[in-house]
Amino acid sequence: MRALREVAADAVTRAMRATLPPELRSADPLVRRSDHADFQSNVSLSLAKRAGRKPRELAEQLAGALDGGIGVELSGPGFLNLTVTDETLWRQVAARLADDRLGVGSPELGRRTVIDYSGPNIAKEMHVGHLRTTIIGDALARLLDHLGAVVIRQNHLGDWGTQFGMLIEYLDTHPEARWRAADLAEGEAATTSALDALYKLARAEFDADPEFADRARQRVVALQAGDEATLASWHELVAESQKAFQAIYDYLGVLLTAEDSAGESSYNRYLDEVAVEVERAGVAQDSDGALCVFFDDVTGPDGDPVPLIVRKSDGGYGYATTDLATIRYRIQELKASRILYVVDTRQALHFRMVFDTARRMGWLTDDVSAEHIGFGTVLGPDGKPFKTRSGGTVRLVELLDSAVERARVEIETKPHTLAPDELGTVARQAGIGAVKYADLSTSRIKDYVFDPVRMVSFYGNTGVYLQYAHTRIRSILRKLPPGTSDTVVGDGPVLPAERALALLNDEYAATLADVAATLEPHRLCGYLFSLAKAFTEFYESCPVLNAESDAVRANRVALCRLTGTTLGQGLGLLGIETPDRM
Ligand code: ARG
Repeated sequence: MRALREVAADAVTRAMRATLPPELRSADPLVRRSDHADFQSNVSLSLAKRAGRKPRELAEQLAGALDGGIGVELSGPGFLNLTVTDETLWRQVAARLADDRLGVGSPELGRRTVIDYSGPNIAKEMHVGHLRTTIIGDALARLLDHLGAVVIRQNHLGDWGTQFGMLIEYLDTHPEARWRAADLAEGEAATTSALDALYKLARAEFDADPEFADRARQRVVALQAGDEATLASWHELVAESQKAFQAIYDYLGVLLTAEDSAGESSYNRYLDEVAVEVERAGVAQDSDGALCVFFDDVTGPDGDPVPLIVRKSDGGYGYATTDLATIRYRIQELKASRILYVVDTRQALHFRMVFDTARRMGWLTDDVSAEHIGFGTVLGPDGKPFKTRSGGTVRLVELLDSAVERARVEIETKPHTLAPDELGTVARQAGIGAVKYADLSTSRIKDYVFDPVRMVSFYGNTGVYLQYAHTRIRSILRKLPPGTSDTVVGDGPVLPAERALALLNDEYAATLADVAATLEPHRLCGYLFSLAKAFTEFYESCPVLNAESDAVRANRVALCRLTGTTLGQGLGLLGIETPDRM
């Protein structure tokens, strides 16, 4: 479906073809939204010089040739003020409403898109640092999928590394540790979990007892060599962690499941091969016994080159090698045409080096795009990176609980008709929605302060405000007498607030395409916020139930429905639920 802006642009293009010399005919008609009319084109000003004409003259000529449902007026030195006819406007509302997809196309059709997000570390609890990757990655997954992409979610779990030697050795020599850890977690319910407790116990012994530390190191070797008993313990730890992660994903309402897990361990079997391949290709060289890739433009503060280490001098592999094997796998096996890494901006250099190496290896070609989708830090009330009062990391579940709790208070203190069990559900939807919206509505690369009180407010640019606007539209529609028509009648004057709301609804598809291109969900947030505000203005000046005629009412009901559906769908693409009442 063509958006009205495109319809207007097409009309200007046709006028240009009919009146301009051939070399100017295919220029961009430069049609934008405007405060003076629905749209404005300044193409006459931009082409006047090349056409050897006065802008105003050129504009008059274009205006004279304009056809097709668009009214035109000249203004200023040569602007074309374009206005969609009432009939065209209502027809557009009806057409979007009649389509399940609200007229949204599939610009990403068939594009195989790998999205790497969340990536928590096994045997540790999810913390504040996993919030943004999980929320942003999930919103992008939903949105690109909606636009037709084949989305392949990849949860790059940190499930391999030297810390497992220590944990497994501890579990083996202290079989009772499972229970002790669970007790410990219980005792300090608010600050730790069984896995974190186990980690602390093992770490303490590792630091205190050199003999234990030695055995722990041998365990790493045994694990990497595939020793059965060691692998079994490792599997147990992985399974335990997966359960804990899944509980958070369910609470958050994100799409990730165990099937999306492709942890670091799954690339283990490729590491030798990858190291040999990059060495043979001459992309990596020996440097003091380590195998390294160097880059012309990557140097440390002292000016010395900073390498990507493919193989350490002790023969071990690390995070970087795994990411090389990962990108190769995603291109060659998953056949990705776009790979998005939704990871903290602090890893920007790492990904630059990984992508550059992959390009030099010929794995990453011009047909594939690899993009690091970085983001800023979640800050505490003091404006510094969020820490607990004692300086520890903040558990993710606590953060979410605090928002849900705050949302419950906010909802309870307003007049409402929710039953107690319903209140719990709505509080969760509101609290989680608020966290997601606060995160997604700030430009990705910026830091933001995690402030539950502000986030769950019914006023201002918040998720709760949008959810509430959605429930209000639903309730207006519920109150209509049965059989009230929403069949658009294409006559009758359009009031300014109706026009503004219709035009804004019409920008939905273009907004989604814009987010798909820029991968900036805050643009969708901003759009939905404008839509909700435009609805409020519409509802204040245009009575629906008490409209002056059936025809006017039908048009307004259609507009209510379209706005409600657009708002609900748009929030859904951000991963935000829409309660029926709140
Ligand atoms: N586990 C990593 C971390 O906590 C995130 C993984 C990101 N993805 C990747 N392919 N490196 O920092």
